[in-house]
Amino acid sequence: MSGVNKNIVILISGGGSNMAAIVERGRAQRWQARFGARVAAVISNKAAAPGLAWAKDQGITTAALDHTAYADREAFDAALVAEIDRHQPALVVLAGFMRILTPGFVRHYEGRLVNIHPSLLPAFTGLKTHQRAIEMGCRFAGATVHRVTSELDHGEILAQAVVPVLPGDTPDTLAERVLTQEHLMYPLAVERLLQAAG
Ligand code: GRF
Repeated sequence: MSGVNKNIVILISGGGSNMAAIVERGRAQRWQARFGARVAAVISNKAAAPGLAWAKDQGITTAALDHTAYADREAFDAALVAEIDRHQPALVVLAGFMRILTPGFVRHYEGRLVNIHPSLLPAFTGLKTHQRAIEMGCRFAGATVHRVTSELDHGEILAQAVVPVLPGDTPDTLAERVLTQEHLMYPLAVERLLQAAG
């Protein structure tokens, strides 16, 4: 991650609350002035993703690529790479992007691709993390920011946030508690990467 223009491209599929938290911290902490970094684009695989409308309102370039319009994963990922690379990103941030990426995609962005996963990895990779944590009787749950490798939800851990699992928690109440921490942790983790890159 070098050079003065550190473009960040964020991929979302839904609400985009982590994306919004990153955009807002970037503004508050003057990432542009300090690191030459800015969120250059927000891209979604769903045109109706509420986060996409929010980003557009903020004056950020947005794009939607409907994965169902492509013959297979390789074709979709190739189109996604083309769209992302228009911005020459220093960092590609997955923030609730609900698609499994091909090894080719991951290789292409090696060293500049990060994700947030709503569990304390390496526990509970995959889906329904909060439900599984409750069912297993976990006393603590949380979220992890990690580098992305071709193995799902693996890769170097960059940050973790822990919350208690409370009696009577449902997957939704636990998700809400974890998400609050995600909004603090993810922007900070991105900022640390920008800082480390100088
Ligand atoms: C977050 O819980 C994130 O950890 C998971 O999907 C959720 C996305 O929420 N990967 P949002 O779109 O950032 O609001």
